[in-house]
Amino acid sequence: MRIDVLTIFPDWFDGPLRTSLLARAVEQHALDLRVHDLRDWTTDRHRSVDAAPYGGGAGMVMRADVWLAACEAVWNDLRPQDTAGAQHPPPEARYRAGGERPRTVLLTPRGRPLTQALAGELAAEPRLTLLCGRYEGIDERVHQLAATDEISIGDYVLMGGEVAAAVVIEAVTRLLPGVVGNEESPTDESFTSGLLEYPQYTRPAQLRGHAVPEVLTSGDHGAVERWRREQAEELTRRRRPDLLDGDEGHG
Ligand code: ADE
Repeated sequence: MRIDVLTIFPDWFDGPLRTSLLARAVEQHALDLRVHDLRDWTTDRHRSVDAAPYGGGAGMVMRADVWLAACEAVWNDLRPQDTAGAQHPPPEARYRAGGERPRTVLLTPRGRPLTQALAGELAAEPRLTLLCGRYEGIDERVHQLAATDEISIGDYVLMGGEVAAAVVIEAVTRLLPGVVGNEESPTDESFTSGLLEYPQYTRPAQLRGHAVPEVLTSGDHGAVERWRREQAEELTRRRRPDLLDGDEGHG
């Protein structure tokens, strides 16, 4: 899968990309991740991406002209130097703001909540473009003409979309074929079955007076299965009863 990220903080993604399983997914060519600097599509000396809001008020608003030029260039694999300041992409370009475009996610607290089901839906796309804005605001025309989806990672406000984009990238990447390694584990766990995960234990069997539950060392696979199911149900009932009565989040 290819994921393009548009941000004013491209360096922010260096850490997560050079470490962790994400780096391995990139090395294995399961993920083609490309991070772009939004400022490459500015046209003024100060490389400004924002301006005062029409109608007045505090704060600045990110400019739609810069965002749309950047999106169209990234979608169509065109270079910033050929497209910065352009009113429209060249006539031969396939993708256009307001027209046909790859699945493009604007990260914003007003978006649709990210769930495991939504991550699964995104993982099935050949290509995603993630737009990281700053929370205070992006010109509404970017929402209308560039984004195909608006996604929130939770009911709290971050300073910008970068952390949220990283969350989407990680949730999606681990669902790509071959990335997690153990093909069984993604389906067994929390949120895919609709339940929280059961408790796990490993060596040593005795630790500071705390023993591993006997059933797990009994060798009775049926009993282990039943115990895990009960534990998962009990944990879910106590901590996340909302998962039991809705259908949100099921994969
Ligand atoms: N940008 C700021 N807060 C956010 C959130 N909760 N989810 C996605 N993007 C955001």
